[in-house]
Amino acid sequence: MAVIGKDILKAAQLLRDGKLVAIPTETVYGLASNALDATAVAGIFKAKNRPTFDPLIIHTYSIEKVKEYVLEFPAELEKLAKAYWPGPLTLLLPKKNIIPDLVTSGLDKVAVRVPDHPLTLELLQQLNFPLAAPSANPFGYVSPTKPEHVNKQLGNAIEYILDGGNCKVGIESTIVGMENGKICIYRLGGLSIEQIEKVVPIAIGMKINSSGDPTAPGQLKSHYSPMKKLVIGNIEMLLEKNKNAAVLSFGNKKYNALTFNLSEKADLIEAAANLFTGLRTLDESNGEIIITNYLPETGLGKAINDRLTRAAANK
Ligand code: TXA
Ligand code: MG
Repeated sequence: MAVIGKDILKAAQLLRDGKLVAIPTETVYGLASNALDATAVAGIFKAKNRPTFDPLIIHTYSIEKVKEYVLEFPAELEKLAKAYWPGPLTLLLPKKNIIPDLVTSGLDKVAVRVPDHPLTLELLQQLNFPLAAPSANPFGYVSPTKPEHVNKQLGNAIEYILDGGNCKVGIESTIVGMENGKICIYRLGGLSIEQIEKVVPIAIGMKINSSGDPTAPGQLKSHYSPMKKLVIGNIEMLLEKNKNAAVLSFGNKKYNALTFNLSEKADLIEAAANLFTGLRTLDESNGEIIITNYLPETGLGKAINDRLTRAAANK
């Protein structure tokens, strides 16, 4: 098992030595390595059992730093960065050669973000390289939002988990880029479309749901999946057919079943923060399958529903 602690100096030294360290962010925990060292980055793919056609996000601490790694920062995207970094926003920008091809799976653009977590921002400032970090879970499984989630699944592959407590956003960053001068969203996430439209009020394109397309990887049809079958629909009707199911609920309705409530007061922000813990808790429970229903399609509800759809898809 890995050691869980708050020692930034230790985390920094391990990363300088080319090792992997799990780091907290406001979205989910990341499995980090030196993004400029292809050998260290290869360790991430191995530990996660992640296919190398699925590129990684690099993390750094400022817009100025990002500019050291990219050829161009389109004005519309810089507006978003100024408004929402540090925060749950990832931008796709044309990469400089200094970023290894393994990080981007050979694509011309690199995904970058400035995470909003004090420990990780301090760590990033101590390093003279950015950190490549996917979510710290085995490929395809539910993302981790607590250090213990990481330890359970990847504890044998890493030495150290930097303990930043519970992730306050709880779902991954929203991925945004530009195509033909138009803003495109590649993954729904912790920054809502409404928030993006406030800053760049132009027609927004959607690139989501393209399953297994190597130009927009990570949008695989089946992802974020518990081991147990997840069924989405009318909870009461589903419960009649599945007496031993566990329920992932939202709002104050009570069910005659083992239940994890994402937010009793029906708050979508609270539900996002609880989503992955809820899926994990029910996955480890006695429930034979997990039953849930879609949440309202506003704010973070869209991203939550996206995760539920993928978690429910057949593997
Ligand atoms: O919130 C987050 O974004 C977390 C934390 C740790 O920062 N990271 C995360 O990484 O969710 P990961 O690897 O689980 O998901 C990153 C997604 C992948 O699905 C990948 O396909 C997409 O970003 N991505 C990365 N680089 C890309 C690129 N150059 N073009 C298109 N998609 C890219
Ligand atoms: Mg992931």
